Amino acid sequence: MYILAIETSCDETAAAVVQDGKKVLSNVVASQIAKHAETGGVVPEVAAREHMKVILPVITQALQVPGLTWDEMDAIAVTKEPGLVGSLLVGRMTAQTLAFVHDKPLVEVNHILGHVYATGLEVEEDWEFPILSLTVSGGHNELILLRSHEDREVLGETVDDAAGEAFDKVARLMSLPYPGGPAIERTALEGDPSAVPLPRTHMEGYNYSFSGLKTAVLYYMKEHPEVLEDPQKLADLAASFQKTVCDQLVGKLKQAVKDYQPREVHLTGGVSANKALRTRIQQELGSIRFRTPQKMSFCTDNAAMIGGAAFYQLQVV
Ligand code: KG4
Ligand code: ZN
Repeated sequence: MYILAIETSCDETAAAVVQDGKKVLSNVVASQIAKHAETGGVVPEVAAREHMKVILPVITQALQVPGLTWDEMDAIAVTKEPGLVGSLLVGRMTAQTLAFVHDKPLVEVNHILGHVYATGLEVEEDWEFPILSLTVSGGHNELILLRSHEDREVLGETVDDAAGEAFDKVARLMSLPYPGGPAIERTALEGDPSAVPLPRTHMEGYNYSFSGLKTAVLYYMKEHPEVLEDPQKLADLAASFQKTVCDQLVGKLKQAVKDYQPREVHLTGGVSANKALRTRIQQELGSIRFRTPQKMSFCTDNAAMIGGAAFYQLQVV
């Protein structure tokens, strides 16, 4: 089954063609990062206008798969929610129009579920359930238990900022570029993760909270303005912040592994690109199968993951 997938929920205009939920035949992403770096974050109206400019060329490029024409395409998938309304609408209206013109079914996919299915892309073997899937991105932080493709339970989520959002906001405080995650990861490489004691917010159950940590960094920087002048101190703060985020994410994950005894643990979303986090989780899991997306380009927003999720969605209904 061939699916043309479209994703425009935030600041990436993306289109992909995916075969049987796994094989990525094309995966085109037009990033708006340079545009939003000017403002240090995504301005929703600017994002929607950028999507309008590039969505048709992006889709045209994604459709350049040798031997594949509209006749072979089985469905069109598009991100339904969550996301920025203006951005989502551009993708949704484009997908809806293409589905109408070419007489194809339209499949609406939840963005977070898209991230969950990013770990199945370009992977031959099937997953073994039950699976604990942690999605950590700029907008979302969800721990999901998958008993099967159709039986899913959200165990926990963030009550305020998502982990990626915390990376972005703290990077801004530290005068590091947008997006903050990769910038903090790079800066942290030279730092001591135990140099700055930062508070961990304890939440009930499997929920997460990161806004207190962001505030703690803000106060620390007010008390230690020299951090911005001293590369070593900046690196120490970045490493300490990154470690604190990892501690919180890993702590809940460990508890859920104990409680639900999954066969596999998956880490997805933009923050899953973080090597320190990957290494920590791998160390904690022992023999449990740990999957992250096969390519870094599948971690951050992309349309291939939407095509992956759409395939299983179509099998279930
Ligand atoms: O999944 P994504 O592209 O978009 C959302 O659905 O939100 O995630 C983007 C987020 C940003 O907050 C970015 O700072 C973070 O992922 N990110 C990282 C890394 N690469 C991207 N965070 C930590 N370490 C990274 N290497
Ligand atoms: Zn995302």
